[in-house]
Amino acid sequence: MGYKTLCFGLTCILFVFYIYTPMPENIEEPWKIRITDAAIKTTSLMAMILEKIGLKSFETLYATLIKLDYTQPISDENVTVMDTTFSDIPVRLYLPKRKRESQRPAVIYIHGGAFVLGSYKHTPMDLLNRWTANKVDAVVVGVDPRLAPQYPFPAPYEDVVSVVKFFLQDKILAKYGVDPNRVCISGDSSGGTLAAGVTQLIQNDPELKSKLKAQALIYPGLQLVDVSVPSHREYEHGPLLPWKVAIKLGCLYFTQDRAIPQAMMKNQHMPHGSMHLFKLVNWSTFLPEEYKKNHVYTEPILGRLNPSYSILLDTRLSPLAVNDSQLQNLPLTYILTCQHDILRDDGLMYVSRLRNVGVKVFHDHMEDGIHGALSFMASPIYLKLGIRIKDNYINWLEENL
Ligand SMILES: *[C@@H]1O[C@H](CO)[C@@H](O)[C@H](O)[C@H]1NC(C)=O
Ligand SMILES: *[C@@H]1O[C@H](CO)[C@@H](O)[C@H](O)[C@H]1NC(C)=O
Ligand SMILES: *[C@@H]1O[C@H](CO)[C@@H](O)[C@H](O)[C@H]1NC(C)=O
Repeated sequence: MGYKTLCFGLTCILFVFYIYTPMPENIEEPWKIRITDAAIKTTSLMAMILEKIGLKSFETLYATLIKLDYTQPISDENVTVMDTTFSDIPVRLYLPKRKRESQRPAVIYIHGGAFVLGSYKHTPMDLLNRWTANKVDAVVVGVDPRLAPQYPFPAPYEDVVSVVKFFLQDKILAKYGVDPNRVCISGDSSGGTLAAGVTQLIQNDPELKSKLKAQALIYPGLQLVDVSVPSHREYEHGPLLPWKVAIKLGCLYFTQDRAIPQAMMKNQHMPHGSMHLFKLVNWSTFLPEEYKKNHVYTEPILGRLNPSYSILLDTRLSPLAVNDSQLQNLPLTYILTCQHDILRDDGLMYVSRLRNVGVKVFHDHMEDGIHGALSFMASPIYLKLGIRIKDNYINWLEENL
């Protein structure tokens, strides 16, 4: 009896230690965030155990849980909602019911979920797109690109390209009453990565007549070249998105070879021939002083991995790592960054790089922000931060699109 109690007690202590994350001081609703963070960590632990004993892969458990929260396309008093496909890719359309003489703006939205999870069907995404359609009086297109690891890179990227090219055709824009000069592409987290990469392709393609008016990137991940920037170091243990989980899921986007995440955790994953990318993601050059603090810049270590991993040089995985010449033609940009987020510095560096080449950028920085807050705008977890991010983003669209 005494022995069992002791074991149980020790297990509890170990568990609490495992899920304990130091919380930044200035965050709103710290207890809600603590509980959410603990729930995510417990799920990760369970997922890791299931994966170790060979029952389920790490990401399947997450995917199963998120699917419980999927919605049907339900129209409301303001917006007609329907599921269809564009170029064989599933999309959910939100068409405002309000009468309008002139053409409407449009938003193409790519959901987050580390390229592995999520859908436009997920309740918070459905709400976000519905609210956007109503408030901005815009046609909104939620996109479900194929997901890794079943469909690794470049499949998700190519799906977004297909949807955007399909939608930008004159006859399709006309069908939905959309103004060709007022189309924005938006995305959060990995959706922001896709939105940024696809925007670079569309704006730099001389064959394409229709262009995007704007891109809106909400706490996007923008590079895999250097995974030891100050925000990675400061928020390694979360809240919400621990660095190791991000690397594990991020690598699944393009490989199931476990050598890659292992090398990435030592920042020695980049192959020979990739040195020219370092200066394009150099945080010591592109971060504002206040974010550099006492950090010392060290270059990623080259060439420890099999050189066949040239995929890591593909800038569609790292839209921050392109030349200035590919940034110059980018449209009006909205970037939202969160202070307490490993991906913070990717966003901050993109702000600097875009402004350096004269692209107009509106930068929203949430001083008390944490990664993924947009996913907590409805029960079971409702964060005021999620609502503020949503409001900032939609207000910006209202004023700028
Ligand atoms: C419809 O729009 C009005 C005005 O914006 C808003 O007050 C109402 O909540 C909306 N209805 C739904 C179901 O979103
Ligand atoms: C990064 O930036 C720092 C400071 O601007 C500079 O000293 C260093 O050489 C740069 N390294 C690379 C690889 O660009
Ligand atoms: C970027 O610029 C460098 C030198 O200016 C060039 O060697 C390289 O090919 C360019 N990369 C791309 C993707 O345009």
